[in-house]
Amino acid sequence: MGKKPSVIVVGAGGFGKNHVRVLAELGSLGGVCDIDREKASTYGKLYNVPYYLNVSDIPEGAYDGAIVSTPTSTHKDVAMQIASKEIGYIFIEKPFTPTLKEAIELIEFLKRKNVKIMVGFIERFNPAVKMVKKYVDEEALGEIIMASATRVRRWPERIIDSGVLLDTAIHDVDLMRYLFSEEPIKVYAKTGKSMHRIHEDYATILLTFQSGKMALINANWLTPFKIRSIEVIGSEGVVEADLVTQQVTLSSKDDRITPFSEWREPLRYELKHFLDCITSNEKPNPDERDALKALEIIEASLKSSKTGNSVEVST
Ligand SMILES: NC(=O)c1ccc[n+]([C@@H]2O[C@H](COP(=O)([O-])OP(=O)(O)OC[C@H]3O[C@@H](n4cnc5c(N)ncnc54)[C@H](O)[C@@H]3O)[C@@H](O)[C@H]2O)c1
Repeated sequence: MGKKPSVIVVGAGGFGKNHVRVLAELGSLGGVCDIDREKASTYGKLYNVPYYLNVSDIPEGAYDGAIVSTPTSTHKDVAMQIASKEIGYIFIEKPFTPTLKEAIELIEFLKRKNVKIMVGFIERFNPAVKMVKKYVDEEALGEIIMASATRVRRWPERIIDSGVLLDTAIHDVDLMRYLFSEEPIKVYAKTGKSMHRIHEDYATILLTFQSGKMALINANWLTPFKIRSIEVIGSEGVVEADLVTQQVTLSSKDDRITPFSEWREPLRYELKHFLDCITSNEKPNPDERDALKALEIIEASLKSSKTGNSVEVST
């Protein structure tokens, strides 16, 4: 067995603390960086790893990989600084950047530095999604016709710098591309604002694909309880997945089964993949193309909602 990769987590806040914990469990937490001294020192001391208050303080060549889990508006600057520390693998939380333009600039920069990029579309690593994908790929549902996704909860009031499309619906935009193994060609969306001061807090997106498939995505921050679910409808059956409980149900004309599978933390699989790529010098997946496509579709959704027309996207 070779040496385990050493990874630093930059941004140990609400979600970053999970990266810290899981990397420690996987034996690959090499350091923590957070501008909040309390957070940096708490996790540094808890896991007995070096901690830094600024990316500029991270020593060059000390880490194999880095996780960027700072607020989305800072991803580009933070990732660019990390790349100058001779870190060859950078994992950037979703949404990759607030805009497609920033994403293009960041990717060009990271490619010039030979950095391999992973984007945090964690749902691809949800065991329930894996099972749905298997049914789709093995044609257990016959020919795929359409899919839908629901992702709703009460507004997490700390999120003020983005709306429900960029922050939340982006997970399902990525899932639809992943499940169909196809790019949408057109986007139609309607959004609205009820409680959020600046951005939309409810949205419906309709994606249409070259093959005729369609996908409907519903996201809001109004529903007082949490639902995260997907449903894929084929000519011979339907598969439904609850992404919170990870329960999957497959139904055909004659049968309805709920295969047993134990609940597993998606973040563990996601980070394991990142570490495996570092160890084997492979390109992670989902990567920069997935980051770009999802942002393009989100921006097309915002445009569609504003103009009232459907918007074409590149394939
Ligand atoms: N994959 C998922 O399901 C998922 C879930 C939640 C959040 N996220 C994403 O993770 C990112 C972080 O979200 P959060 O809710 O944890 O935010 P947060 O505000 O709770 O935490 C961000 C942390 O980054 C630190 N920070 C800010 N600027 C920094 C800098 N320049 N250098 C070092 N540290 C810095 C802050 O002090 C804070 O501790 C966002 O992009 C968000 O969209 C992803």
